[in-house]
Amino acid sequence: MNNSDCIVLDKVNKYFGNKQVLKNISFNVPYGCIFGLLGPSGCGKTTTVKIISGITESSSGDTFVLGEKMPKLLLMNKIGYMAQSDALYSDMSAAENLAFFASLYNMDSKEVKKRLIEVMDLVNLSDHMNKPVKAFSGGMKRRLSLAMSIIHNPKVLILDEPTVGIDPLLRKSIWNELYKMTSAGVTILVTTHVMDEAEKCHQLAMMRDGLLIAQGSPAELQKQIGVKSIEEAFIYYGGGEIEE
Ligand SMILES: Nc1ncnc2c1ncn2[C@@H]1O[C@H](COP(=O)(O)OP(=O)(O)OP(=O)(O)O)[C@@H](O)[C@H]1O
Ligand SMILES: [Mg+2]
Repeated sequence: MNNSDCIVLDKVNKYFGNKQVLKNISFNVPYGCIFGLLGPSGCGKTTTVKIISGITESSSGDTFVLGEKMPKLLLMNKIGYMAQSDALYSDMSAAENLAFFASLYNMDSKEVKKRLIEVMDLVNLSDHMNKPVKAFSGGMKRRLSLAMSIIHNPKVLILDEPTVGIDPLLRKSIWNELYKMTSAGVTILVTTHVMDEAEKCHQLAMMRDGLLIAQGSPAELQKQIGVKSIEEAFIYYGGGEIEE
């Protein structure tokens, strides 16, 4: 393992019953990097990020985050995880949801107050602090989930399709914030279907049918096969024959 890597997966396999959904997945995510996991629906992105977050255990293989073997309960305070489906209390307001989450991390109330304002501003929801979540649109719920995943200033941020339902302008501002976080030393792993987002990542791993089929920077992946966009690379790697 390299000390400059924040996340390391080494030959990770995952079975659900007899079905193998992750097949020998290995990749490294350097510190301070935005790493994108790209692949068609059902290829295993969510399963991979759940293993990295310590929510699911792999069937075999090793996963390390911040030098510790996962799953590790003590690491939970250092990891921010935004699930693909929003886990919010709909009768509670945005602020109450955030405060509840913060209490799970044992944050002190002064810090919570300060962070509440910061994270709601970051996702452009400052005007909706006291609105019950059931009155939120789908995109607003995604944004609140993002705010919740960063309330405790995690060192590692794992985002499962964070910008689904978020308009292009706000998506851009969220990406700017993600870059700022990496400048402050946060390592970010993001799954996405959106090609323009894939191009914004420093490093990419492409998955298909539980296999990792290509990895590198967006430019490297395009250069390897002589195409001009990540979309073309995605189609190329997604459609080619793969040896198992
Ligand atoms: N708890 C589970 N039990 C059984 N099978 C599962 C379970 N969770 C996921 N799977 C299966 O594992 C495979 C990978 O699912 P996963 O959710 O990781 O894909 P994904 O790449 O995140 O897809 P999407 O882009 O649609 O979110 C799928 O075939 C799915 O049906
Ligand atoms: Mg998924």
